[in-house]
Amino acid sequence: MAPRGARSDPTGDDPQTALGRRRRRIPQRLPALGFGAAQLGNLYRVTTDEEARGAVEAAWDGGIRLFDTAPHYGVGTSERRLGALLAAHPREEYLLSTKVGRLLVPGPGGGDDTAHGFSVPDTRRRVWDMSAEGIRRSHAESLERLGVDRVDVLYLHDPEEGPTEQAFAEALPTLAAMREEGLISHVGVGSKDVGVLLRAVRTGELDVIMLSGRYTLLEQPAAEQLLPACLERGVEVVAVSVFNSGILSRPEVPEDAMYEYAGAPSELLERARALAALAAEHGVELPDLAVGYPLRHPAVSSVVLGMRTADQVRQNLERAAREIPEELWDQIDA
Ligand SMILES: NC(=O)c1ccc[n+]([C@@H]2O[C@H](COP(=O)([O-])OP(=O)(O)OC[C@H]3O[C@@H](n4cnc5c(N)ncnc54)[C@H](OP(=O)(O)O)[C@@H]3O)[C@@H](O)[C@H]2O)c1
Repeated sequence: MAPRGARSDPTGDDPQTALGRRRRRIPQRLPALGFGAAQLGNLYRVTTDEEARGAVEAAWDGGIRLFDTAPHYGVGTSERRLGALLAAHPREEYLLSTKVGRLLVPGPGGGDDTAHGFSVPDTRRRVWDMSAEGIRRSHAESLERLGVDRVDVLYLHDPEEGPTEQAFAEALPTLAAMREEGLISHVGVGSKDVGVLLRAVRTGELDVIMLSGRYTLLEQPAAEQLLPACLERGVEVVAVSVFNSGILSRPEVPEDAMYEYAGAPSELLERARALAALAAEHGVELPDLAVGYPLRHPAVSSVVLGMRTADQVRQNLERAAREIPEELWDQIDA
């Protein structure tokens, strides 16, 4: 539910809402708020079927129409779950993205996938494949797991972690060819590596990047070159890990807060706590700032938040709609 006086506007298209005003952008194509489904793949811990259903239903009921997943998230679990939950809704009413670069193959079984961060059985495992054939196969297998006949955005996933040169020589040209063939609408790269994203943007083949954790309230290494390059070339930016995977997600920052999928170092805990105190002085909360911050940059179209429960979704919709005093932004920018 939106707070009193605030209008829910997850598209960010309404200039009368806090979210719409915050999103200062060149012509928009992607909605301002999206649902990240890594948590539906049991990231860190099990998300129950009931929680997953509640989260996706709350997102839909709250007007969210952009959903992101990947084969990597729970070795196929997130894609299957998200696809099944979205099947209740007409495909043309929402935007869906998934990723390529890792193929899923039979795993050893008998153990789990916690070494990769997901609480799922290891009956499947990932293999890097950025070849032309691997990209097409990955796309086809994702469609099958999702139970849809198309995705709107196909991202090359973490090319810096896999065979990077093959990613540039084969995967990106293949994605561009798939766009030409009408198989996908938008070509993207998703990564936390500013250098690899900048290199990808400069190929001229991208419509969108998914920028993980590198343009947040806590840190902005993308601001120097990457975001200006995206603006110059009309590449949309979807900011993700805007809570830096947990440290910015609560009004107070606990000692065991997560940063980059692991425990946060003490200097970051201190920075986050100082920001939380500043937010409180202005009557708002740290996560309100974390959700709102990236959308103030003119290159950023969307913020995609990782959510595993209906309560998190509803709370984040409220956060996105919250008015943040301009003088607070000024103090943060100073
Ligand atoms: N390379 C890439 O392309 C890439 C990289 C990273 C992310 N992504 C995408 O972006 C999405 C989001 O990224 P992310 O999962 O790294 O991080 P995030 O959005 O920074 O953080 C997600 C975590 O924040 C917590 N959270 C969310 N809403 C909350 C609320 N209202 N109250 C308290 N805690 C809340 C949840 O914690 P709990 O776990 O405690 O529930 C959740 O796991 C992913 O799902 C994925 O779709 C893509």
